[in-house]
Amino acid sequence: MDEIKKDLAKIIRSVKMNIEIEKGFGIDSIIVSKPNKANSSLLNNQHEDKKVETVTSASPFDQQTFASEKERRTKLLEELHQEVLTCHKCPLHKTRTNLVFGVGNSMAELMFVGEAPGRDEDLQGEPFVGRAGQLLTKIIEAIGLKRSDVYIANVLKCRPPGNRNPLPEEIVLCIPYLIKQIEIIRPKVLCALGTFAAQTLLNTKEPVGKLRGTFHNYNGTPAMVTFHPAYLLRNPPDKVKVWEDMKKVRDLLNELAGKNSSS
Ligand code: URA
Repeated sequence: MDEIKKDLAKIIRSVKMNIEIEKGFGIDSIIVSKPNKANSSLLNNQHEDKKVETVTSASPFDQQTFASEKERRTKLLEELHQEVLTCHKCPLHKTRTNLVFGVGNSMAELMFVGEAPGRDEDLQGEPFVGRAGQLLTKIIEAIGLKRSDVYIANVLKCRPPGNRNPLPEEIVLCIPYLIKQIEIIRPKVLCALGTFAAQTLLNTKEPVGKLRGTFHNYNGTPAMVTFHPAYLLRNPPDKVKVWEDMKKVRDLLNELAGKNSSS
């Protein structure tokens, strides 16, 4: 009897925690699936307190290697930033207020890719700082990370006037900068937010609704596709789908961290 009570208490704690996360993320409905082997492992405490485990270096030597690698990547990103600042390949530099290069941790294991700066981003020179950005921050926090743990960049580095869609020629001219950012950061997992990021990274014309929910391959890096936060502001019920996608990202990051620490 005591065992049953303990199990029930565990389940209640776990359900409460998940409701907290989902509320924080702005979700007010949940998909209820039939119990199966996978989710019955809740009883074994396997799904409790799920968040991305942050990797800590074991020895002082590891810490030193980590620090010098971080310094190397930060320097490379800064050099690239300076190069992009002088870019006149398309006319967007004439109408922008600020270049929006990218922001975050040069050692990030997770990198988000959006479309292009909007008005707030253009004014502040930082990606995803407007309403959609606040929602992206909640999405990041919902999987147990901070904004400063990840790296965030866009396909275009300058705001298209009036927030119009990026033109194909603008994408072609700007994409080498994003590719270099990905090469420098070498994230373990990429997350493409919305149509333009997904179609550009994966070189496809498939709609985001078809691409989302599974990992694709970007040059050997698993790339999740999910809905853009600005779309979610207009279509709140689809937050549930983004939450499903982000749980897959969280679980893959944890799995990859497990493999690394045992190897
Ligand atoms: N939408 C984007 O795609 N990127 C931003 O930086 C802001 C809004």
